[in-house]
Amino acid sequence: MISEPKGTVFRRIARNGVVISLRPMRDEDGPQVVELFRALSHESIYNRFLTPIVRLDAKQVRKLTHVDPGLEYAVAAWLSEAGCERMVGVGRYHAMSTEVAEIGIVVGDPWHRLGIGKMLLRQLTESARARGLLWFASTIDPCNLRLLRFVEACGFKGHLKYHDGLLHMRTSIATLFLQDSQDPPLNLPKI
Ligand SMILES: CC(C)(COP(=O)(O)OP(=O)(O)OC[C@H]1O[C@@H](n2cnc3c(N)ncnc32)[C@H](O)[C@@H]1OP(=O)(O)O)[C@@H](O)C(=O)NCCC(=O)NCCS
Repeated sequence: MISEPKGTVFRRIARNGVVISLRPMRDEDGPQVVELFRALSHESIYNRFLTPIVRLDAKQVRKLTHVDPGLEYAVAAWLSEAGCERMVGVGRYHAMSTEVAEIGIVVGDPWHRLGIGKMLLRQLTESARARGLLWFASTIDPCNLRLLRFVEACGFKGHLKYHDGLLHMRTSIATLFLQDSQDPPLNLPKI
């Protein structure tokens, strides 16, 4: 029998056959967050945090693990391997208003292109819809082509604006994962 982290909200077999479980981040997940950070390339760290971080300090770990349920949601992806669980990715959002939330996703480099990023984004989307949020906002390095391909694959529709050397993206939560929708284009707000 496959073990799964307590509180699992979603479980799926990834492209390479490994079992991935998703569950909300907990206060006590700090050691696993640090371990995941060690599995990130410099490029992935920069693309996620937009600053070159060498190691996470205690304050940063606390910020990543202690989620304010009124404003935030964070979900971690866990790999089940030989009865052990390893955190392999995290997705989170932080509501900036009743309509807009800032989003961040990262998957450890050894597990890229297995569909884990998409699983995390689906879960964030579900949670954001339930909360009545309308837009995901993110700030992206223009060289982050992986993310641009990723967002395209998930059906992002919204605005991309170049400002101060960065791309500012706003995405309609309603249109995510609805690639086949025949709905007319939405009248999106300016950012
Ligand atoms: C962006 C990121 C989260 C994607 O995670 P992932 O688990 O590798 O993505 P998935 O496997 O779910 O990919 C889904 C689809 O996105 C597209 N995609 C993802 N990575 C891609 C790449 N390197 N090149 C081209 N297309 C890519 C593909 O269409 C892919 O589907 P396919 O593999 O069936 O072709 C991951 O690359 C990452 O952690 N990057 C570093 C951090 C970052 O940039 N975060 C975003 C800013 S907060």
